[in-house]
Amino acid sequence: MMFNVVALFALVNAALVSSTAIRADAAPAVAHKATGPIANAISPIANAIVVFQTCVDENLKNCLIWSATTLPVGCSNTASSGQANSISSVQTAAGVGCTLFTSTTCSGQSQFINGTLNALTVVGFDNKANSFTCASL
Ligand SMILES: *[C@@H]1O[C@H](CO)[C@@H](O)[C@H](O)[C@H]1NC(C)=O
Repeated sequence: MMFNVVALFALVNAALVSSTAIRADAAPAVAHKATGPIANAISPIANAIVVFQTCVDENLKNCLIWSATTLPVGCSNTASSGQANSISSVQTAAGVGCTLFTSTTCSGQSQFINGTLNALTVVGFDNKANSFTCASL
């Protein structure tokens, strides 16, 4: 039994190490003021795709769109783009999943997002996020 426990611990540890490495290597997303629904959003950066939208108000109002040239997207600090403890609704691009974090460095409490969440209060994460990462679903 002890062997199984040790083997399981090693496996979990390996998974944690590899996800940390991906996060550290990947470039963060870049923020721009959103002008409409994410489905119509076009990245102002050449060869970049829109991956995520973070909004200060519920129902996807008062938003930033986030663009990246690669997936996964590295840790992106929302606080340094003017959204500190103020995000109340979010939307991922099709085929993309993003994880919100309470700290500015993608640690602390987290909340996975896949699709549209018009009110983060529903999952107990209103005005809590300060950073995120994204990856292909
Ligand atoms: C994301 O949401 C879609 C649509 O609800 C669902 O089909 C898919 O399984 C979800 N993927 C993950 C990784 O949660």
